[in-house]
Amino acid sequence: MSPKPQLDPRHGIRYGGDYNPEQWPEEVWAEDIELMREAGVNLVSVGIFSWALLEPREGEYDFGWLDRLFDLLHAAGIGISLGTPTASPPAWFFHRYPEARVVNRDGTTLGFGSRGMASPSSPAYRRASVSIASALAERYGDHPALALWHVHNEYGAPVSECYSDQSTQAFRAWLQRRYETLDALNAAWGTAFWGQRYEDWQHVSAPAVSASVVNPAQRLDFARYTSDALLECFILERDAIRAVCPNVPITTNFMAGTCESVDLWKWADEVDVVANDHYLVAEDARSHVGLALSADLTRSIAGGKPWLLLEHSTSAVNWQPRNVAKRRGELARNAMSHLGRGADAIMFFQWRASRSGAEKFHSAMLPHAGTNSRIWSEVRALGADLGRLASLTGTRVQAEAAILWDWQSFWAQDLEWRPSEDLSHRERINACYDRMWRDKVAVDFAHPEADLSSYRLVVAPASYLLTQAAADNLRRYVEGGGTLVVSYFSAIVDENDAVHPGGFVAPLRDVLGLTVEEFLPLRSGETVHLDQPGLTGDVWADAIRLEGAEVVMAYEDGPAAGGPAITRHQLGDGSAWYLSTRLTVTDLGVVFERVYQDAGTAVPVDLPEELEVIRRSGHVVAINHGDKPFDLDVDGTDLLSGQNARTHEVAAGGIRVISLHER
Ligand code: GLA
Repeated sequence: MSPKPQLDPRHGIRYGGDYNPEQWPEEVWAEDIELMREAGVNLVSVGIFSWALLEPREGEYDFGWLDRLFDLLHAAGIGISLGTPTASPPAWFFHRYPEARVVNRDGTTLGFGSRGMASPSSPAYRRASVSIASALAERYGDHPALALWHVHNEYGAPVSECYSDQSTQAFRAWLQRRYETLDALNAAWGTAFWGQRYEDWQHVSAPAVSASVVNPAQRLDFARYTSDALLECFILERDAIRAVCPNVPITTNFMAGTCESVDLWKWADEVDVVANDHYLVAEDARSHVGLALSADLTRSIAGGKPWLLLEHSTSAVNWQPRNVAKRRGELARNAMSHLGRGADAIMFFQWRASRSGAEKFHSAMLPHAGTNSRIWSEVRALGADLGRLASLTGTRVQAEAAILWDWQSFWAQDLEWRPSEDLSHRERINACYDRMWRDKVAVDFAHPEADLSSYRLVVAPASYLLTQAAADNLRRYVEGGGTLVVSYFSAIVDENDAVHPGGFVAPLRDVLGLTVEEFLPLRSGETVHLDQPGLTGDVWADAIRLEGAEVVMAYEDGPAAGGPAITRHQLGDGSAWYLSTRLTVTDLGVVFERVYQDAGTAVPVDLPEELEVIRRSGHVVAINHGDKPFDLDVDGTDLLSGQNARTHEVAAGGIRVISLHER
């Protein structure tokens, strides 16, 4: 296979944002471009929502304004990431093809006037998307300013599932490919339960709202089908572009870690370069940890290769309950964390704040306040700093630990009627990730069936759905010398959301050296004490029967009083830990300290928790999220200040990007 086209690394780190000049008179464009140059912008994404302007009537194109824009940007040396506008079909499209509108799970047909693609299984939508993508490729495929194709926008948002008649038919066809026979479907879905057996494919439908809880295996398959249908839409557009324009990289902007309706492990191979959008949870005072998680997940989806941050915000967004503005310096701290975790492009939504429409209160690189503003000066400063960091372009991050991540398991666990509403896969992943973030352990995310042999430590905080193949993979990993940590409510069901034969955790029984006889969820607010001073758990406990594991900590009270709470099992050259209750991030530290010893993971003891330290190839990126300065003993040159030293002070809120002398 020939290598996939990539962005030209000679341009260094790419910097810019979404640029929507069609919202402004053309006189403004010259000022935009002048200011872009002042800020060091070298890449902008255009055309993402321009379908109605580019194809005002079906089959009739108007490229005049975009031609002029391409030439202006090119003359200024600014590269173009060209969007295909298929996330927002024009009014004429929905008028002409009303059957292409998305139908909700409760049967509501969604109207026009917002944005959001048509039904992903609509033949008319697919035809129209391919036509506009092909027309753009023919028009601009050879333009020297074209650097990247940005297909669609954020597949899966704002809606992903569609329950229209056309979607139902497509779901049936998807099921026929997966199961071939109705007997196989009936077995996989367990339709003997509640008398749901099917005798005719035409009777199988999308899992719309029903009188009670709908068959969970049917819902899980519908989630898989939805992700696949969206991916087919991407592939159709990508192939139409590639046929005309084979040498420019093609991507789409993922929302790794914030949108769970697409299985990005399946998407990763289909893009030429992985790209991501990330927005902070403004309410969370430690939202920089969530940012780091999304960046590490994106890098993992990219198989460790550099990736592109296509959107984040300069300050507040407009769609959260309280849109907290970024504090002074936070813009750069956020950008540098993405960069340290493998991003080769740092881009924002959007270049110039919109005066009209639903997003007029969203921050931008050029805010409503204009250039005499804090945001503009921070945008300029960041552009200048990124210009000093070209040596990071194309380099990689090495992680020694991995957290297992599987969208299909999340979809299954999020269905109704689980043992406790306090169970949250995301909460446990966040807690384990936060623990390792504070300990400065570099983390990748991995699919449970992926090769794990390069990691010293693998953590499975939320592997509710775990296939037998994945369990075998984990067994091999531990036997080969790995350290595995498994949290409660893992390895419960197979790929059809059916409890594993042999009961809870059955496929990992010999790995963990135990079996779980019964779940013992706790009441709201109830806590249980462990036999380690000060340690308590909440939410969950298990009735555990030991089959070879040693007890590391036991319950002192609660429904499992006297029984094991945390266990460790030696298997082959490795060890497997089991955590049967929910511990806080701080308390997880007590357990992880011992886990790190098993794994041989070195944890710096003299650095404060709020100092983020990342190593990207021969560079150390240090970001101080605390309010005190700290000294970092790293021998090298800070590329931002030019200072060459063995110890670098990282000011409160400050950043260092140190090129190491010893690599
Ligand atoms: C998403 C979209 C953008 C914009 C931003 C606002 O990421 O892709 O078009 O709406 O959100 O935060």
